[in-house]
Amino acid sequence: MTNTGIVAIDCYAPQRVVTNDELSRFVDTNDEWIYSRTGIKKRHLSMGENTSDICVEVAKRLIEKTGTKPEEIDLIVVGTISPDYATPSTACLVQGAIGALNAFAFDVSAACSGFVYSLSVADKFIKSGQCKKAIVIGAEVLSKIMDWKDRTTCVLFGDGAAGALLAPCENGGILAESLGAKGEDALKLTASERKVENIFVEKDGENSNYLQMDGRAIFNFSTKVVPENVKGLMDKCGVSADEIKYVIPHQANSRIIDVVARKLKMPVEKFYLNLSEYGNTSAASIPLALAEMDKKGLLEKGDKIIIVGFGGGLTWGSMLIQW
Ligand code: UT7
Repeated sequence: MTNTGIVAIDCYAPQRVVTNDELSRFVDTNDEWIYSRTGIKKRHLSMGENTSDICVEVAKRLIEKTGTKPEEIDLIVVGTISPDYATPSTACLVQGAIGALNAFAFDVSAACSGFVYSLSVADKFIKSGQCKKAIVIGAEVLSKIMDWKDRTTCVLFGDGAAGALLAPCENGGILAESLGAKGEDALKLTASERKVENIFVEKDGENSNYLQMDGRAIFNFSTKVVPENVKGLMDKCGVSADEIKYVIPHQANSRIIDVVARKLKMPVEKFYLNLSEYGNTSAASIPLALAEMDKKGLLEKGDKIIIVGFGGGLTWGSMLIQW
């Protein structure tokens, strides 16, 4: 059977970089707290570009570097929790902007698992033969849904986009996946609430437009579910930890990754982290890391890697990929 291969990967982050020190001029925080609790040193923040704008940059880069014609793209999927609109989808805005006339397009809402979920959906369309070329992007402009007075969230997140061009391949590519959700804890991480209000119904209380998170609860959830999820995936595939060259986790907190590595009995050096540069970019964080690794030449043909997302929903998901 045909597999789905990653033909190319690329990224785009807004130019404006904000250090912890700069942030502490606006918010009651400091570099020592942020870095020691999270591993974050800086983040890229949008100076006006919206989520679709940064996705379009990624899509253009992917098309250009692979010599693909826009009309050859069959499918565009964007994982995001910070779309420009509820409708149109971000993916449709990208489709229009790049002239991918033959593509169908939609967004996936799975927060920090958004890239893994989106890849999973695109993988099925390619494996089934329905699509030959797909673009999958994880993108967020989280700065527009931050409460910049809430130091418990606003110091953590950043803006960015990254994605992959997918096509059928004979060997390697996406080998296996394991996705999950725990809706009973859904309200531990929320954003952009919209209560019912119409001519017959008066709104019951205010909407909390901003991203809100029970950080401790998500920390405990992540350090439990991620090792179980990754171990389950490796067991299912009969792959040992030694055979995995890198694990690319969602970049939320380096302390989470320390615990995950310890529980999996894997050296922490196998976990690729770049959150010191970008902060937590939700659906964008895994492809941003992959694109950086690709640029550095860290990924060689045949390498087996695992990507693993976790966060709002609550959701999680891992994938075994042979590069
Ligand atoms: O991407 C989606 C998934 N999200 C995650 O995976 C996030 C998971 N959670 C975390 O990474 C951590 O829980 C946080 C980084 C969010 C918080 O770290 P923590 O060690 O759990 O800190 P805390 O919330 O328990 O706060 C400890 C103290 C509090 O002060 P008191 O009550 O002990 O006096 C906070 O008020 O740190 C204080 N604090 C801050 N101080 C300076 C909270 N935020 C800040 C801040 N600067 N920015």
